Amino acid sequence: MNLSEVWKSAQVTHSYLEGVRAAIPLAAEQIDVLLRLLHANPRPITRFLDLGCGDGVLSAAILSAFPSAHATLLDFSEPMLHAARKRLVNSPHAAFLNLDYSDPTWPTHLNGPFDAIVSGFSIHHQPDPVKRRLYQQCFQLLAPGAMFLNLEHVSSPTPWLESIYDNLMIDCLHGLNPTQPRTAVESAYHNRPDKAANILAPLDAQLQWLRDAGFTHVDCYLKIFELALFGGRA
Ligand SMILES: C[S@@+](CC[C@H](N)C(=O)[O-])C[C@H]1O[C@@H](n2cnc3c(N)ncnc32)[C@H](O)[C@@H]1O
Repeated sequence: MNLSEVWKSAQVTHSYLEGVRAAIPLAAEQIDVLLRLLHANPRPITRFLDLGCGDGVLSAAILSAFPSAHATLLDFSEPMLHAARKRLVNSPHAAFLNLDYSDPTWPTHLNGPFDAIVSGFSIHHQPDPVKRRLYQQCFQLLAPGAMFLNLEHVSSPTPWLESIYDNLMIDCLHGLNPTQPRTAVESAYHNRPDKAANILAPLDAQLQWLRDAGFTHVDCYLKIFELALFGGRA
């Protein structure tokens, strides 16, 4: 079994949506910067794709900012898609697709071009050659001038920096569960079921893969240790 399939479990979905997502440091700023980029880009947002949408947190923010846009939310986890449908129940322009983007043929199931593709904390489960292929496929699915924005875990340059990130995350999780001893939160963090599915790649390499795919204005727009918002314009 592909390790990232842990996300198909209702329990993993629940614990991410109820706990981890709310604890992510700078979550509001990440969305703010993502929306600023989409607003600043001359290309109007009429159609966008959310890759590995989870409960649709990114799509919901984009639809609030661009209410007439049409959203395609793609995920391979039925419990996540259920949560996304629930969150966006009042959004007339949201479509949901159960699809595995590690299958090389996934773009053939979509009608491009899109005015933006976003992804949140999802692609890091793929081996590096698949990440590169995904960036190329996103480039092909985008209209000229459209943006790809990837909010992602990237590898830390050194174990020391990784440990600072881990401690920050444990503090944030503990802040959400202050009645639990920090040691219990720490142990749960280090033993989380999706951890084994992580294949983190360096930020610099990923920026280069985006340039190689043809993207311009490639940059990391916001970063706090392992969490980076990066992308480019097609
Ligand atoms: C950590 S969650 C993030 C959800 C949401 N994007 C967010 O920002 O909170 C990762 C999501 O990616 C989805 N995912 C992982 N691998 C996938 C794949 N190969 N194809 C489609 N979805 C995938 C998981 O099912 C899960 O919903």
